Formats: sequence, C-alpha cells, structure tokens
Amino acid sequence: MSPIVASAHAPAPTPRRRRLGNETLFRHLIRVSQALAGRLEFQAAIQAVSDELAAILPHDHLDVCILRQDLHIAYEAGAHTDWSLSAHPLPVEGSPIRAVLLGQEPYLISGDALADPRFHFAGAFAHPIFNENLQSRLHVPLLVRGEIIGALSCSKRARDFYDEGDIPFARHVADVLAPYFYALRSAEEASRLAIEEAEGRAREDALREGALRLTEELERERQRIGMDLHDLTLADLTRLHRRIARLREAGGAGPDVLEAVEAELARTIGGLREIIDDARPNILQLFGLAEGIEDFLGRALDGSGSGIGWAFHDLSAGAIDQLSEPLRVALFRIVQEAVNNAAHHAEPSLIEVELRREGDALSIDIRDDGIGFASLAQRKRVGGLRNMQTRARLVGAGFQIGRRADRRGTLVSLQLPLTEGHGSAA
Ligand SMILES: Nc1ncnc2c1ncn2[C@@H]1O[C@H](COP(=O)(O)OP(=O)(O)O)[C@@H](O)[C@H]1O
Ligand SMILES: [Mg+2]
Repeated sequence: MSPIVASAHAPAPTPRRRRLGNETLFRHLIRVSQALAGRLEFQAAIQAVSDELAAILPHDHLDVCILRQDLHIAYEAGAHTDWSLSAHPLPVEGSPIRAVLLGQEPYLISGDALADPRFHFAGAFAHPIFNENLQSRLHVPLLVRGEIIGALSCSKRARDFYDEGDIPFARHVADVLAPYFYALRSAEEASRLAIEEAEGRAREDALREGALRLTEELERERQRIGMDLHDLTLADLTRLHRRIARLREAGGAGPDVLEAVEAELARTIGGLREIIDDARPNILQLFGLAEGIEDFLGRALDGSGSGIGWAFHDLSAGAIDQLSEPLRVALFRIVQEAVNNAAHHAEPSLIEVELRREGDALSIDIRDDGIGFASLAQRKRVGGLRNMQTRARLVGAGFQIGRRADRRGTLVSLQLPLTEGHGSAA
C-alpha cells in the first residue's frame, strides 16, 4: 500500500513546525495516560487528553471514533459537530474516513479536506468538515492486537498543516489511547449485555407472573361458575324436584300446574345456557372470531338500557379465521374486556371494534369516545388491564392502551404477527 501524500491539491509550502524531541514526547505521552486514568466514559476521556495532545499534535478539532461491528461512534473534543451530536451509531460505510476504519489505508493526511475527493463520496457524512472549516486533517487507526477498533483524527482550520512527519507522533498517541478505549468499549459492551440480560429476565418474570395471575383468574372463574351452578341451577332443579315429588304424592296434577312446572324448567334451562355461554365463547367454535365479537357486542350493548351504540368493521379479509382456536379465544377475551371496560368506565356514546389486515400482521382496535383513560395512579383496579396485557404477550401480540389521537376517549390496540404457527387453523 503506498502511503498517501498530502492533498491532491497543490500544497502551499508552509514553514515546517518544530517537532518534539523524544524525551519531551515521552513526558507528554505519560501525561496523556495519566489524564486518561480513571475516566470511565469516552467523552470524558477524550476531553481530558485533548490539551495534552495539542502539545504533540496541534489541532483545532480532535475526535476519536470507535467501531462497533459495522457501526461507529465519534467522540469529540473542542467543537462538537454532527459527528458526535447526530443519532448514533452511524454505519462505517458513510464515514469520510472509512478507508482507515476498514483498513484500506494505513493513515490519511489531507491539506485541503474541503476539496479532497477522498472525504466526499456519495453518502459520506462529511458536512461537519465544511461547517467547521476543517481544512487540514490527519487520521490514524487505533489498533489493539492488530485489530482496528477505531481512529484518531486531528484537524486544523488552516490549510496544509500536517505532513508525513506527523504520522509517527500520531501513531504514538494512538498506541497510548487504543488499549484504554478498547477497555472502555469492552466494559460498555459487558454492561450493555448485563442490562439486556436483566431486561430479558424481568420480561420473563413478568410473563410468568402474568400467567400465574391468569391461572388464578381461571380458578376464580371456575369458582364463580360453581357458585352460579349451585345457587341458580341446582337451586332451581331442587325446587322442581320437590314440586314433582309433591305432585306424585298428591296423585297427579292438572294442566295448570304442569304448565307452571314446564315454564320453570324452561327458565332453568335458559339460566344454565347463560352460565355456559358466559364461561365459553361457544359462538367462536361454531362460527368465527368476527361473528363472535359481533354477537358479543350485540348482547353486551343492545338492550342494556345504556344507550351506547356500537359498530363493528371487519377488514381482515378472512385472515382472522385462519387463527388457531386458543388464539381466537385469547383475542376474543381481550376484546371482551376492552369493550366491557369502555361500557363500564368510559360513559361513551359509541364503541367501535375494527379488525384489519396490515401486511403480515392482524390489527384489532377497540375505540370508545368516552371520558378517556385516567393515569395509572388514578385507576383503582388494574386486574382486567393486566390480564389483557398478559394474554396478548402469551400469544405474541403487541398491546397498547391509551388516549385516542383525537383525544376523544380510549383506544386499545392489538397487533398479531401472522406467522406460520399463527396462520394455520391447527
Ligand atoms: N375505556 C376506558 N375508559 C376510561 N377508563 C377506563 C377504560 N378502561 C379502563 N379504564 C379505567 O381503568 C381501570 C382499570 O380497568 P380494569 O383493569 O379492567 O379493572 P376494572 O374494569 O375491574 O375496574 C378502570 O377501573 C377504569 O378506571
Ligand atoms: Mg375491567
């Protein structure tokens, strides 16, 4: 690889700077490492060494950029430009010094970076060069055990400031900085991994806890059904049984009495059907989720005397009925709770449910135009909300609840990715 000479543009002959002698250089490098010691953040580290480095490599702008896989992050001392201020990290491909970061060039020197084509390719993130008028630039890689972990860059607002003679100095500095920055990067990586792991664990714990709550809910539901059966159906049947026994003892009954018994039997059957309907959304099994939701809206809101209107829009193009039954039941339960919440808490005039197919996902929105959702602190109970959340997570669906964009009431929305497993009616 041929070393890069100064700018392609005619370098104006400048008086060469006096460079440090070995002993002075050594003293400054020691001070650089002292300045680094104990700095636990990249920004603080680069700030701390900037003055000391100026004695070795005069500069108006200094930055260290650190690689993370295909991305890089810049840390600057002196002027802060979009290199460090913009959203990070940025792809290496867009770095004006990618040739150094990718190991294609051992270093770069430019005497007129504003016009140097090496910094200005399509997609290059080079505008800070213009904004800060960084005319002279010098870049060397930061190497640790032969691996490029980033680059050190010095810039001057004057033209043709650096030359080949600065390269050994820049390398000495880079050799002092590189291991330190490498250690910082490893520490940061380790703490990032630790945080991710902790977050993952917390998510798992929350899911486990949610599943447990749901199981408890099921248990309560079972108890409720038991109680309903005991208090209603069993009580009715016992009464009927006694009545029939009395009729037998009396040696028969007239048509009036039989009619009354028949009516009571019909009521008992009706009551039993209600209990069963309540416990099992059987319309889902007989028809589909869309019909189930529509049927539920009608039963819950028509004739409830609340005057709440409802609308149902199925724009899912049948995608919804490809879902497996446990999935349909989970989605139905969420819709049911959201609609019940809207009816009980929101004082709405309209509740709408909409099913949509959006690419590879199925979306369900439940909207009301009521009083809106109070902040978490204001809400007394959150059992139903938690269950909706847990059910959504158990089936891998996204779940949000909050104020509608137009601030009229509440929007509950669900997004279910239609993956292989979800798509089949298994
Ligand atoms: N659509 C809604 N509009 C206004 N407030 C709501 C709505 N949905 C839920 N809330 C509020 O959130 C609280 C918690 O709801 P939830 O967890 O389902 O418990 P519950 O319905 O048993 O009160 C409700 O008590 C209510 O204050
Ligand atoms: Mg509720």
